[in-house]
Amino acid sequence: MPERAKIAIIGGGNVGASCALWAASKELGDIVVLDIPQAEGLVKGKMLDLAQCGPIERFDAAITGTVDYADIADSDVVVITAGLPRKPGMSRDDLVATNVKIVKQVSENIKQHAPDSIVIVVSNPLDAMVYTCWKVTGFDTNRIVGQAGCLDVARYRTFIAWELGVSVEDVAALLLGGHGDDMVPLPRYTSVHGIPVSQLLSEEKITACVERAKVGGGEIVKLMGTSAYYAPGSGVIQMVESIVKDKKRILPCAGYCQGQYGIDGLFVGVPCVLGASGVEQIIEIDLDTEEQKLMDASASHVKELVELVQQQETQLA
Ligand code: LAC
Repeated sequence: MPERAKIAIIGGGNVGASCALWAASKELGDIVVLDIPQAEGLVKGKMLDLAQCGPIERFDAAITGTVDYADIADSDVVVITAGLPRKPGMSRDDLVATNVKIVKQVSENIKQHAPDSIVIVVSNPLDAMVYTCWKVTGFDTNRIVGQAGCLDVARYRTFIAWELGVSVEDVAALLLGGHGDDMVPLPRYTSVHGIPVSQLLSEEKITACVERAKVGGGEIVKLMGTSAYYAPGSGVIQMVESIVKDKKRILPCAGYCQGQYGIDGLFVGVPCVLGASGVEQIIEIDLDTEEQKLMDASASHVKELVELVQQQETQLA
């Protein structure tokens, strides 16, 4: 008899709860959401509430809120959403000092309680937090991956579809680089039902969609005073689904690069094949000079952030 997958989500805030909601609605497996002891009632209440959608939404799953890491044992996938979100005027990088401590502690617990899991990191600044998680857990690099590209490319696809007045489903696109405002959506690899987007939209309109996607997170922070959660959660669950169903989808994720795209020893957004073993392949595509320049700039921003994290580690040690 096939066993149900077990998905643990660390952090029961807006992003964590959205992940749980999307995972439940797609009936991907049993779900455990863990939060800090001060939030025990809240996380248990939220998950009880979510479990009671089962009869309406037609999912069968054990859905649990907890503050005890023992409950994440045997998870197939662990998602780290813990950490502070942005407030207006903040960049993702401004969160590094606080979130690195949180992600370190969470990663130590994952190493201890779910040593065979595949970990998806969502906390910001994303690319540096993935690196921190890898360093702390020591897991093989295929079992550590960051969610950012699924969200960023979904924003880009949405804007292109709105501009054309067509279904969002028919817009396919590629996006590379870190999860900062210097992420790299690629118009040359954007198509609408197989038609290159350049045949349907002017360069000016495509550029406007690219630019809006790059600051898409900030647009939402400005509007509501905190960062987004529905689409970040949806991006995570797109990855979880590909892993637990071994679909081997090609998704833009922060994967560990070893020479690909000229990047070595960093987690940066690249097209990854996600399956039962985590990141099973990184796909390399040809970039023209301009695209490679943008990728280099994004990767060097990620490198600076990782160096900042390393400096903090030395100070803390
Ligand atoms: C965003 C945050 C979650 O891009 O990084 O919305």
